[in-house]
Amino acid sequence: MTNYLSVKDIESLPKWVEEAKALKENPKQFKTLGEGKTIGLLFFNNSLRTRLSTQKAAINLGMDVIVMNFGSEGWALEYEDGTIMNQGKSEHVKEAAQVVSQYCDIIGIRAFADLTDKEQDEAEIVLTSFRKYATVPILNMESSVGHPLQALADAITLSEQKSKPKPKVVLSWAPHPKALPHAVANSFIEMMQLQEAEFVITHPKGYELNPAITKGITIENDQDKAFENADFVYVKNWSNYQDYGKVLNQDKDWTVTLDKLGSAKFMHCLPVRRNMIVADEVLDSNQSLVIEQANNRTYAAQIVLKKILESIVK
Ligand code: CP
Repeated sequence: MTNYLSVKDIESLPKWVEEAKALKENPKQFKTLGEGKTIGLLFFNNSLRTRLSTQKAAINLGMDVIVMNFGSEGWALEYEDGTIMNQGKSEHVKEAAQVVSQYCDIIGIRAFADLTDKEQDEAEIVLTSFRKYATVPILNMESSVGHPLQALADAITLSEQKSKPKPKVVLSWAPHPKALPHAVANSFIEMMQLQEAEFVITHPKGYELNPAITKGITIENDQDKAFENADFVYVKNWSNYQDYGKVLNQDKDWTVTLDKLGSAKFMHCLPVRRNMIVADEVLDSNQSLVIEQANNRTYAAQIVLKKILESIVK
C-alpha cells in the first residue's frame, strides 16, 4: 500500500485491527522501521487528535516529523490548470506538492469540505492534487468526504469493546450549531461494511447522507427505535447533504442522554459539543468510549504508516 486515501485502502480490516492492537501492546516494536524517513503533516484546518496522534505514531516508528499549518501559514494555493494567477492565490499546487516531496518521504494532508459546492468537495481537490503532483505517498488526515484514520481507530475500539461477534451498532445524527462535513460519518459507514455487525443509521427525515455510501444500509428515522438493543451508539452531526452544507435542524430531542442510550456504549470522534450532541451525564459515565477512541488514533496511524513504510523501505 503506497497511499492511505480512504477506507477502501484497508487491505484487510480484521488483520489491520489485530496488528494495531499488537502495536498498542508494544508501540516501539518497529522503532527502527522509519529511521532516516521524514513525514510532513500539512494542516489546512484545525486539529488536536489527528495532529498529535499522527506525530506520536511516526515517532514510535522512528520517523522525523515536520508539521505545517498550511491554511494559516502557507501560501494560498491554486488548483486549477491554466489559470492566470492574478488574484489572491500565490503558488500552484503543482510546485508546492513537488517541493514538499523533496523534504518528506510521506505527506499527510488535512483539508476539510468547505460545504458550499458539493461537486467541488466530492472531487477532494486538495487531496487529489497532492496525490497527483507529489512524488511520495499521501496520507489522508481528513479530507472533504472521508476520515479513514478515524474509522480505523473506531474499528480498533469496537474490536476491543465488543462482547459478542455481531454487535448492534447505531450511527446517530445529533444537533450542532454549525455546519459540519460528512467525512467522519462517510468513513464510519464504509468501515462498518467491512465487519460483522447489525448496523443501523438514524437521522431526522431530510438528513440523508450520500445515497452511494448508505446504499443497502437500514435507515430508521425514529432514534429511540434505532437505539433498541444497541451495543454501541456512534453519534455525529452532519450538515444537510441535499440542501448542501445547510443547518436546517437543531432539534434537541436528538441529543443523546443516558435514558436514550440505555446500556449501550457511547462513541464520538471528538471534539464534541457537550449538552448539544450529548449530555454531560453520558460523557462523564463509564459508558463513554471517547477517550479510548482518541487513544486508538495513535495505533490506527501507526499501522497505516507501518504499511506505507514497508512499501517504500525495500
Ligand atoms: N477526531 C479528530 O479528527 O480530531 P481532531 O479534529 O482534533 O484531529
